[in-house]
Amino acid sequence: MKVINVCGARPNFMKIAPLMEAYRDEPAIEPLLVHTGQHYDEKMSRLFFDELQIPRPDINLEVGSGSHAQQTARIMDRFEPVVAEHKPDAIVVVGDVNSTIACALVAKKMGVGVFHVEAGLRSFDRTMPEEINRVLTDAISDLLFVSEPSGMENLKREGIALEQMHFVGNVMIDTLEKHRHKAEASKILECVRVEPGGYCVVTMHRPANVDDPAVLGRLVSVFEEIQRELAIIFPIHPRTRKNMEASGLLRQFAGLERLQLIEPLGYLDFLKLMANAAVVLTDSGGIQEETTILGVPCLTLRENTERPVTLTHGTNQLVGMDPERILTAYRKIRQEGAKSGRRPEGWDGKAAQRIARIIAGWTPAW
Ligand code: UD1
Repeated sequence: MKVINVCGARPNFMKIAPLMEAYRDEPAIEPLLVHTGQHYDEKMSRLFFDELQIPRPDINLEVGSGSHAQQTARIMDRFEPVVAEHKPDAIVVVGDVNSTIACALVAKKMGVGVFHVEAGLRSFDRTMPEEINRVLTDAISDLLFVSEPSGMENLKREGIALEQMHFVGNVMIDTLEKHRHKAEASKILECVRVEPGGYCVVTMHRPANVDDPAVLGRLVSVFEEIQRELAIIFPIHPRTRKNMEASGLLRQFAGLERLQLIEPLGYLDFLKLMANAAVVLTDSGGIQEETTILGVPCLTLRENTERPVTLTHGTNQLVGMDPERILTAYRKIRQEGAKSGRRPEGWDGKAAQRIARIIAGWTPAW
């Protein structure tokens, strides 16, 4: 069975890596890897291929950045001839980025099977571009691989047939478990001159948080208070950096004495930094899951999450972007310690193996 695997943006790489590895134990599967080029900077892409030992993509569509319509259209335009040439039986898409929906749509209309890894997650917030990508991709997928119980419930409610959905666990945690030990050798703590437990990590890139300077600017007062106790390490996503430069906020953040704005980090450095942090402040999806397994408190700078198991089982809390709410949660963690987390079912490092086995046994209904 010929299977084209699609990745495009940074959070896709840790999901595709364990799948490419798991296919080696399934001789029935002939995998090809397509990189759409949605993310292209050395630090947003190449570094992850090297560290996670992902095979070099067979094809790179080199689409680059653009508006949502431009980017999605460009991926579709360039992916169609790849499907026509290679005639796969199915494609695998992961996550919720523009590359996910663009390639799923192309393949489905060409009569090719679509398998979605990380299906069923819902924030119920349709102002988020990722939510649109998730709902639409799931609606046209033939196999839906689900990482947490809420995903199964959501898909059932949306009328997806039970035989199409498989609760398999979390491929992102496969990657974390595989590299956890190796990450301990990272020298990132020395590089940024912090001690374990003596700092807070911040990441932000969601349009709702970083595109409006008034929203982003509210964090200055939060960081002023946190830095009285902890150093703050903030690896900046290119989108956030551009917005901060344009609005003049970069200077305000850089002016905070114990806040370090650094370039985006590779996987191993970031894992080490996260694992030893006193607290993580983020608007990322994947980091909510990783901190749950690492047992590090996570304050999510959003009003909703498509990953509710990180709230019920993990160390995650939703705090939005209101400074007082963020600081109240932060002070509670400092006084009372972290909420103790449990490992969600199926987050055991073997999700990709389960997926590969199901794919190998798939026969199209048509
Ligand atoms: C995308 C995903 C988001 C994911 C995030 C992780 C969608 C809709 N969004 O958002 O779900 O959480 O990736 O990073 O697919 N840029 C660079 N270099 C790069 C890539 C991007 O400088 O290698 C800059 C460009 O100015 C670009 C901007 O970042 O316009 C945003 O990139 P884009 O891929 O459009 O979306 P992200 O915000 O990264």
